[in-house]
Amino acid sequence: MSVLASLGNPTDTPLAGGFADRLRDSFGRAITDLRVSVTDRCNYRCVYCRTGNDGAQYAELPHAGYLRMIKLFVSLGIEKIRLTGGEPLLRDGLLELIQEIAQLRTPFSGDGLDIAITTNGHLLAGLAQPLKDAGLTRTTVSMDAVDPETFTAITRVPRSFDRVLAGIRAAGAVGLGPVKVNCVLLRGFNDSQIEAFAEFSRQEGVIVRFIEWMPLEEDRTWTPEAVVPLEEIVARLNAYRPLVELPAHAASETARRYTFDDGLGEIGIIAPVSRPFCGHCSRIRLTSDGKIRTCLFSQTDHDLAGRMMRGASDDELTAYIRQVVMRKEARHHIGEAGFEKPSRSMVHIGG
Ligand code: 5AD
Ligand code: SF4
Repeated sequence: MSVLASLGNPTDTPLAGGFADRLRDSFGRAITDLRVSVTDRCNYRCVYCRTGNDGAQYAELPHAGYLRMIKLFVSLGIEKIRLTGGEPLLRDGLLELIQEIAQLRTPFSGDGLDIAITTNGHLLAGLAQPLKDAGLTRTTVSMDAVDPETFTAITRVPRSFDRVLAGIRAAGAVGLGPVKVNCVLLRGFNDSQIEAFAEFSRQEGVIVRFIEWMPLEEDRTWTPEAVVPLEEIVARLNAYRPLVELPAHAASETARRYTFDDGLGEIGIIAPVSRPFCGHCSRIRLTSDGKIRTCLFSQTDHDLAGRMMRGASDDELTAYIRQVVMRKEARHHIGEAGFEKPSRSMVHIGG
């Protein structure tokens, strides 16, 4: 069988034996959230993520390959798929892939999947309606400044700010909201933007999420001093206007949620460095070249695509997935002595 044929042979029937046991790791954490990177190419060069140059890229699988894998994961209890990159909107055929994923039902409840995307927004304005029509349910846009000049200094791409803003608005207008806007805070770069982002959330009706910078960048420039911690973000926002904490939607939620005293605006703070949330992690990742990563900070990839290409059956592949998930790491070790950087940087993993 050719490589492409073996990748593109998804199973249409539920998998025998898979229904009773949902995917769990050795710590009893239920794995319900799969992040699929469909490319590690990106049209931005964010300072906290990439070097200024285009480096080596990993392979991209044909969409049929991702689809077969996604079906296997769904048969094991995955309920939420997040498409990531690199920049996922650079990938040809993405709409067709979303259409196929939107047909899937989780065998446990019969419900459709939650299908989200994380994009830098550069190409989003023109694609928001087609994405919605294809079956996408939610959008997260990375935008690290509301001031265009600061934005350009971070992304190192000129004249993109207006496009991203238009993308955020288009996504909201077509019903892909509430749109989440991710901002990775870097001291000295964009920490001046905290209050302006609060204003932005209130005016645009979007959820702004501040993310602590993690050591996942290509050029190894991370320092603990550059991280703007949760406590500082909360203090700054409180000084701007009193914050009110909101209840978590689920135990596995990564963001602490807040609104302001008048109920207008929503802020999330994702604090993997100062307040790790590994104990409730429900996530697993598939790279663009079809490797499973059980943690952002894993030292190893697990080669699901390789097994698929060598002709493994669905039963063999699900057994392999279960075995890999059992080896999911307990937690990351950022900030501890002996911390080892992961074997891949963020752009090559998928956010
Ligand atoms: N630390 C924290 N967040 C990061 N992102 C990319 N690199 C890092 C990093 N090193 C963000 C992106 C995107 C999300 C998936 O992760 O900006 O919004
Ligand atoms: Fe591209 Fe996202 Fe990395 Fe920026 S953070 S360079 S948009 S992958």
